[in-house]
Amino acid sequence: MEKKVVIEARNLRKSFDDFEAVKGIDLEVFEGEIFGFLGPNGAGKTTSIRMLTTMLKPTSGQVIINGYSAEKDAILAKASIGVSQQHISLDKDIKVRQNIKHHAMLRKIPFRDIEPRMKELTELMGLGPFMDKMVVELSGGWRRKVSLVCSLIHDPKILFLDEPTAGLDTKSRHALWGIIRQLNNKGTTIFLTTHYIEEAEGLCDRVAIVNLGKIVASGSPKELCDSVGHITVEYVNRDGKRFGKQFPDRQSGKEFMETLKDDTNVTLRKTTLEDVFLIVTGEEYSKGGADNKITENN
Ligand SMILES: Nc1ncnc2c1ncn2[C@@H]1O[C@H](COP(=O)(O)OP(=O)(O)OP(=O)(O)O)[C@@H](O)[C@H]1O
Ligand SMILES: [Mg+2]
Repeated sequence: MEKKVVIEARNLRKSFDDFEAVKGIDLEVFEGEIFGFLGPNGAGKTTSIRMLTTMLKPTSGQVIINGYSAEKDAILAKASIGVSQQHISLDKDIKVRQNIKHHAMLRKIPFRDIEPRMKELTELMGLGPFMDKMVVELSGGWRRKVSLVCSLIHDPKILFLDEPTAGLDTKSRHALWGIIRQLNNKGTTIFLTTHYIEEAEGLCDRVAIVNLGKIVASGSPKELCDSVGHITVEYVNRDGKRFGKQFPDRQSGKEFMETLKDDTNVTLRKTTLEDVFLIVTGEEYSKGGADNKITENN
């Protein structure tokens, strides 16, 4: 069966005065996917998400959401999506419960459906004990969960999450990835940005890596790792600079290791999405990685 495209961007561009932040993005996201939109700070992720969700008018190009043009049929396109923005916009001086109800009313949810829907989502997020607190009293992580409940209140087919786990501690972050997986298992298509590349690798069916306003790589994490060589030799040279070099197989990686006798901290391991990210964005290996010995990890 042919997969249905539910998010489509064609040659999407956005300029702010004479600065072009998004330089012609083409993408297709299929129904039921978790799609990761990755890139360094300032790459154009939030600007793209805002255009994909009808919040920002593109300078040129087209967005089609669930078959509807975001420009010509914005109301229908918008009805299919939920958005949790990078900078959470909640009314801080009213209770959590009121914030959620307010969103439900904006989404024109029938009155009788609001309470059951709110109950289901607040149970999913573990928000029960916070429902009668003012938003201003909540930590960033709990505010993020309130924002997620608001974005899900109308049971959207497609959920856009811009940095959903930014600022969360490890436990909350993993809990939130679990919730995202659960929503996806129930059929919600997820489009998300994150700086946690390792976690995106485990979670996303496909990713696009964006740099300086352009998509520089896209595919499943495995396809991307294979495309650069699925074995990586990571090493630190005599000047203390860290490098990673990719190879199509272990043997060629090992042969390269032999040539590195004067270097320390050499590791042979599987290539990760983080390696691909560093290669295609031109960023440097700066942290993580090898021990003070030659190792061979899988
Ligand atoms: N309203 C605006 N006016 C002018 N420039 C803007 C505006 N919004 C974004 N930009 C610029 O566009 C570029 C892309 O910004 P954007 O917020 O889309 O990046 P991002 O990939 O989401 O980054 P981050 O990972 O930091 O969230 C940046 O250089 C930013 O300064
Ligand atoms: Mg952003």
